[in-house]
Amino acid sequence: MCGIIGYVGQRDAYPLLLTGLERVEYRGYDSVGICTTDGTLHLLKEVGRVEQFKNKRLPGKQGIAHSRWATHGGVSQKNAHPFIAHDAFALVHNGIIENYLELKEELIEKGVVFSSDTDSEVILHLVVGHYQHGPDKNLLAAVQQAVKQLQGAYAFAVLNKDAEEIVAARDGCPLLVGIGERENFIASDATAFIEHTQKVVYVDDFEIVRVTKDALELFDHDGAKKNVSIVEVRGNIEVAQKQGHPHFMLKEIMEQPQTIAETMKVELPRIGRPKRILIVACGTASYAGLLGKYILEKFAKIPVVHETASEFRYQEPLFYPDDLVIAITQSGETADTLAAIRLAKKHGMKTLGIINVRESTIAREVDQVIYTRAGPEIGVASTKAFTAQLIVLYKLAFQLGGKKFEGKGIATLIEETLKLEDRIKEIAQKYVHNNHFLYIGRNLFYPLALEGALKLKEISYIHAEAYPAGELKHGPIALISEDMPTIAICPRHETYEKMFSNIQEIKARQGKIIALASTGDERMREISDDIIYLPKADGLLTPLLVAVALQLFAYHLAALRGCDIDKPRNLAKSVTVE
Ligand code: M6R
Repeated sequence: MCGIIGYVGQRDAYPLLLTGLERVEYRGYDSVGICTTDGTLHLLKEVGRVEQFKNKRLPGKQGIAHSRWATHGGVSQKNAHPFIAHDAFALVHNGIIENYLELKEELIEKGVVFSSDTDSEVILHLVVGHYQHGPDKNLLAAVQQAVKQLQGAYAFAVLNKDAEEIVAARDGCPLLVGIGERENFIASDATAFIEHTQKVVYVDDFEIVRVTKDALELFDHDGAKKNVSIVEVRGNIEVAQKQGHPHFMLKEIMEQPQTIAETMKVELPRIGRPKRILIVACGTASYAGLLGKYILEKFAKIPVVHETASEFRYQEPLFYPDDLVIAITQSGETADTLAAIRLAKKHGMKTLGIINVRESTIAREVDQVIYTRAGPEIGVASTKAFTAQLIVLYKLAFQLGGKKFEGKGIATLIEETLKLEDRIKEIAQKYVHNNHFLYIGRNLFYPLALEGALKLKEISYIHAEAYPAGELKHGPIALISEDMPTIAICPRHETYEKMFSNIQEIKARQGKIIALASTGDERMREISDDIIYLPKADGLLTPLLVAVALQLFAYHLAALRGCDIDKPRNLAKSVTVE
């Protein structure tokens, strides 16, 4: 995680770096730092958010900046990037250097003094050491030497106060160059500079890039020059603004009628019928995958194995020749999902990505991609990307089953669900002081219970657990008390009667029930403490309506508790470390 940005050109670097930092801040926001040079290094770094630097200024037409998600070393000013050596070199890093302790010991033995507890600072001192001992004081050559010693994942950028250049390298973390008119940028994400240029060069693993205001050169680790391929990226700045909503999360929840309608239009590529499908993903994307398993098995009649990417990558998974491995990811950068895909490819498997961010690392590595059309998702809590992933999975299941997914009226149904906001807020108000929640569902609604509980946990810090309702009596029912309300996802469905019995079991133990039920379900109203009636819809579409209702519930509970909804503590949007 962590966001990096660099600029070299004719304009003042500071305001450009500051805006860029705001855009990559979703990648981590424990601390922030900017270093510019005009022949002298100028540095600002602090614990906390970018906004604290808004009324400051640093001179210079070149600089690098960083927003941190702490891995090695606590959240403190001394561990904030950029790191400086000899008042001449500055470095920012995203990733984890796994062999940093060993390297640090060697450097300390040589007399290097460290100013932080981070793994990142090791890279700086390696580079500086090679620079000082190199025959021609060459930063590029020094970086080429240093990367050979690193194990782990990185995208880093380094500058020397006296040279009008930035040298950056990548292995395992995103890095790209934005090419402007007599100016160039480096960043973790194109949104950092999108209003200045849409011309982008993606730096690949094991590549090093040297950027000046007029040129860009790409090299491999051995110093051989590589061809540069420039692509135009789409994007506009409005989508990266809240447009009147108090939070990106709410804006993104409200956008779902459009993002779902757009994703409905996606034409799927031709995908041969596999004998078996393996789904790998993390977090919310993984819950979309779990629902995908139910749907694919039901409509395509293909067996599906659903795996959490972080576990899958360290197992010894069994692959069969006609397997298809599907990665689901909003960002396309999640380290564990990427590793799972690389493992599958190593075994010669066919891979497919269901991805939101175009040209992301996973999108470039899989054999085939289906892009969801959720648009940029800024809020750390995934909302519109999740429903877009579900739409793609439905379409895929139907296509593989030889049918077409119509999804009739889905955008209107989502609009109707959004109209439940006041009712949902009212219920959130009633339960605002509860510190524990249980979410239950069966069949298609079990993955929704998992997703609903995750949303609540991550933005409101309320403890929430999700179970398949049938599991309750195997242990979790012991938790039931007046203080642990249950969100029961119980629209009319094949398992409705079973859900009804489970709800009765909870009521018999003084548990409170908030039911998400089919409109007009009087029986459910009588037994529950609070009820949210979902719009009348085809059974297959109901999970999407449930998703939206649960997003609103989590959002309003978190808002009522005054939480930092778009940037919840300890989290980052894009998880590029394992
Ligand atoms: O970018 P990805 O979809 O691969 O991200 C996966 C998870 O990190 C992500 O869904 C995470 O769980 C969200 N914060 C959930 O809201």
